[in-house]
Amino acid sequence: MMYDNIFDTHAHYDDDSFDEDRFELLDEMFNSGVCGIINCGCTVESSKKSIEFAEKYSQIYAAVGIHPQNAAEESADAIEQIEILTAHKKVVAIGEIGLDYHYDYTPKDMQLEWFEKQILLAKKLDLPVIVHDREAHADCVELILKHKPRGVMHCFSGSVETAKQLTDIGFYIGLGGSVTFKNAKKPAEVAANIPLERLLLETDCPYMTPVPFRGRRNNSALIAYTAEKIAELRGITPQEVINQATQNAYKLFNIK
Ligand code: NI
Repeated sequence: MMYDNIFDTHAHYDDDSFDEDRFELLDEMFNSGVCGIINCGCTVESSKKSIEFAEKYSQIYAAVGIHPQNAAEESADAIEQIEILTAHKKVVAIGEIGLDYHYDYTPKDMQLEWFEKQILLAKKLDLPVIVHDREAHADCVELILKHKPRGVMHCFSGSVETAKQLTDIGFYIGLGGSVTFKNAKKPAEVAANIPLERLLLETDCPYMTPVPFRGRRNNSALIAYTAEKIAELRGITPQEVINQATQNAYKLFNIK
């Protein structure tokens, strides 16, 4: 199983779990089928890390933003700091931003306020958004339909109907390891039904590792298993899935 042209639209290589072997792992992946990665920021600090990696590797791009789980612990001017970071030429998106009602690290009203502010920032800068939505589908979709930014709903866990509301306005659907999970029916249904022109592939590494490595640390090369599952659901080859998703990523993030 070897594919090329794999573009991972959502990764967190600044995570501690990569401290031991981060650069060896990235070197290895860029020599074996991975052509690009977007490292997503969750805080001002991790957004700076994303830019640092993007400066080190031509294949890495940076997304900068404040994650809903981190907003409460950030300084009041964090979004202004994010705006300053967007001046870097390898920043391709505002993210990850969004709503997370599974955890209550950040109060709901603050999550909504910071999400909306960052959507408006993205629109002002003409950058796409990378959206995190956990157990907050209705509010997430409402804000997206209200402002209609360009962007992607990452690690999509909603229904086929919700996916359609988003793809109808040109939004992209990010799919990763969860399409391979036996207990997650919805992501597989979505993978089988969305227009292929709206699909992005991602890892969310170190999390969301696809079967058969579920539970272990994820990495961008393992997108192969996600692509194989989507290919099986759609009756095309994994390389065709990868090629279309990579082309979609270049288009959305204005790369190349
Ligand atoms: Ni993430």
